[in-house]
Amino acid sequence: MTPNDIRSVMRIEALSFATSWPPSALASELSDNKLAHYFVGRIDDALPDEMVVYGGIWVILEDSHVTTIAVHPDRRGQRYGEEMLVHLLHQAIERGASWITLEARESNVIAQSLYRKYGFTIVSTRRAYYSDNGENAVVMWAGNLRGDLYRSRLAHLEAQLLQRSVNHPD
Ligand SMILES: CC(C)(COP(=O)(O)OP(=O)(O)OC[C@H]1O[C@@H](n2cnc3c(N)ncnc32)[C@H](O)[C@@H]1OP(=O)(O)O)[C@@H](O)C(=O)NCCC(=O)NCCS
Repeated sequence: MTPNDIRSVMRIEALSFATSWPPSALASELSDNKLAHYFVGRIDDALPDEMVVYGGIWVILEDSHVTTIAVHPDRRGQRYGEEMLVHLLHQAIERGASWITLEARESNVIAQSLYRKYGFTIVSTRRAYYSDNGENAVVMWAGNLRGDLYRSRLAHLEAQLLQRSVNHPD
């Protein structure tokens, strides 16, 4: 993600979340936060407005945190969210992380299902975490990312993902 992407990210953000980050917060993540790594996905790189997915992580030594992930509503259910999560997991591992955590709305069963598929489990609840409606957040966590077991689970899921995109190219 570069500063030029912020406008398209904000468009997906507004369609995806009840409250949006201000563009300035994202701009400062990109320019000032050395722990932050943000990525975007497009179907056609030549069309900058055709962004379908974005996501980000912080990596702090062995710990990492998925800060955000969202797919354009017209493109959900087509594996873009999963592809982005796989990318974020690889980025976290390559940058030295052994653990990864995130928060999700208690009601967000779709996101939780995606995270569970990749080995995340719920470790705690943050009461009234979301200010717009007072909803609880579940804190999810996956560990030992650099271990053989996790790496082989990731490789297996990634092979399935690749197979599906070969069978159903977009
Ligand atoms: C959550 C989100 C990123 C998932 O991305 P997506 O591209 O729609 O999902 P994918 O097609 O990659 O599906 C991957 C997995 O997600 C889960 N999933 C996706 N759609 C689902 C649905 N309608 N019902 C239940 N689970 C679903 C499944 O686990 C699925 O894997 P499976 O098909 O093998 O079971 C996307 O729905 C989104 O942007 N939501 C709004 C923003 C948001 O909630 N972000 C997460 C904040 S914590």
